[in-house]
Amino acid sequence: TFARLVVVGSLNVDSTSYVEHFPAPGETVESTGFAVALGGKGTNQAVAAHLAGVPTRLIARVGDDSSGDFALQTLTALGLPTQGVGRLPGITTGVAQITVAGSGENTVIVTAGANGQLDAELGPADTEAIAAAELLLSQGEIPAPTIEALAATAREAGTRFVLNLAPPIAIDAAALAGCDPLVVNEHEARAVGLVPDAAAADGAEPSIERWLELAASAVAAGRCRSLVITLGSAGAVAADADGSWHRQAPRVTPVDTTGAGDCFTGTLAAFLAEGRGLAEATGLAAAAGALSVQGRGTVGSYAGRDAVLAFAAEHGLAGP
Ligand code: RIB
Ligand code: NA
Repeated sequence: TFARLVVVGSLNVDSTSYVEHFPAPGETVESTGFAVALGGKGTNQAVAAHLAGVPTRLIARVGDDSSGDFALQTLTALGLPTQGVGRLPGITTGVAQITVAGSGENTVIVTAGANGQLDAELGPADTEAIAAAELLLSQGEIPAPTIEALAATAREAGTRFVLNLAPPIAIDAAALAGCDPLVVNEHEARAVGLVPDAAAADGAEPSIERWLELAASAVAAGRCRSLVITLGSAGAVAADADGSWHRQAPRVTPVDTTGAGDCFTGTLAAFLAEGRGLAEATGLAAAAGALSVQGRGTVGSYAGRDAVLAFAAEHGLAGP
């Protein structure tokens, strides 16, 4: 089946404990809730794109354990095709141990497992899917050489390449230069050197105007073809060769921010793959991300296309 968007990325099974406050070293706290759910940045982003209504293929790796069974069953129940999800013998499925505090903040420990073996050698069906797609999306939770090879594959095939550099692993400047857009949060923007030392050293949070300038100058300098920087409750800034924009995040009360960035990025990629402009797709992504923080967990809290479009319109985020 034709996929407009191909996502190559991680798949984890998330074990999440909800607590009043994070335990200090040596401290034991009682949870107020516990859940096991499908996660991983690549998978979360693929689910968000699929829910946005864009035909999506997920390319990922799981182990031959019960977590792998659970993951494949969950993807199928969500209606996402699993042909691109390979099972590797003798290795565990990726795991994330997550703790969410009453404040809505989280801590995450990731064990890569099979994700660490998602190498650049993709099968012919996956390679064809990338060439046929509008857009290829990846993230930092798989090996760097794989991401660099994907950037080259996309360039050769004429497929638009979007990279969410989360976590901020070291990637070739040449691969970053092809990103359209590169999607980072504030912390990742600093890690990848998009915030000049002088600006970083004065310790002050850059203003929205300053973020817009930083994004525009990174694009002008050829660091990436276009750039989106997510700013949490302050929304996001986006820049490409045509200009730069700020999109506000709707005000909501966060319950669980886990996977909100993935919801943002998957939604952004979906609407770009559908042919919308960068500013509009950023606004729709901000709306989807804000909806997701109001519910527990990652993919279980992602809204469908109609709800995202309606919420965006309500908050003045639907237009170009
Ligand atoms: O971004 C959220 C994701 O990060 C979680 O689903 C977890 O699996 C970690 O990879
Ligand atoms: Na959520």
